[in-house]
Amino acid sequence: MKPLSFPAQIDYYLDAVTCRDTLVESLESIIKPYRFGRVLDCSVGTGFGVIDLIRTGHNIVCSDACSDMLRRFSENAHRDNVQTSPLKIQWDELGYKLPESFDLVLCRGNSIVYSDMWESHQMLGDLNGVKKAINGIYKAIRNDGCLYIDIPSEKHFNFDAPLVIEHEEKSVNCLPVRVREKITHDEASLKRKWDVDISIAGDVYKFTKYSHLIKENTFISMLQQAGFRRVERVESCQYRAHYCELVAYK
Ligand SMILES: C[S@@+](CC[C@H](N)C(=O)[O-])C[C@H]1O[C@@H](n2cnc3c(N)ncnc32)[C@H](O)[C@@H]1O
Repeated sequence: MKPLSFPAQIDYYLDAVTCRDTLVESLESIIKPYRFGRVLDCSVGTGFGVIDLIRTGHNIVCSDACSDMLRRFSENAHRDNVQTSPLKIQWDELGYKLPESFDLVLCRGNSIVYSDMWESHQMLGDLNGVKKAINGIYKAIRNDGCLYIDIPSEKHFNFDAPLVIEHEEKSVNCLPVRVREKITHDEASLKRKWDVDISIAGDVYKFTKYSHLIKENTFISMLQQAGFRRVERVESCQYRAHYCELVAYK
């Protein structure tokens, strides 16, 4: 098989370790009340689940900072006959590029913790970068609108040993896919390291990503400091058990 790009590996990863239908269902329940409003997914990535929603008639503006992820998004949309043009915008630019434009903004799939680090192979930045990102997102939301956002749940932080997850083999695009992930939580640097090994029909890919390690109450305070008047935890929508999902109201 031709070597896969990193965003294509992410697509295989997502299909192998999650259930796309569960994601689509849970996202549908979040966006349903905004059917006549404006919705933005500001870290759309390769469009996993979101392209399915656009195909079924949901109007979602899509943006992301990473050209490679957006290229894959466009390929996925084209393959599914979905007309959509994603925007290349960083979170901290949203406030002046799309000011007060949306009733609902989605920033999900453990995205915000990668602030300053998604396109790097090193530990970079600090929580000020996350604060700037939240401020940018806040400014793109209309008054009385809200933000749906998730971070890794601190219930799964383990400072004593890395968390190793061996996923069962799954067939993706008719190919056998096996995923092994190792998550290391470093309390001193407040960083999280995600090592992934994926075997796709015998071809092995490996990648490592660093992100910020943020406690839930610290993150809620950051949302409040940005101006959100109320922050609620979402208990019912458990697409992935290790996410802490929040809705922040402007
Ligand atoms: C973990 S991926 C999640 C993608 C998608 N939401 C999903 O669940 O499949 C994180 C995404 O955040 C995007 N991202 C990282 N930093 C960003 C920034 N400063 N502004 C906008 N998007 C950013 C990355 O390019 C990547 O697509």
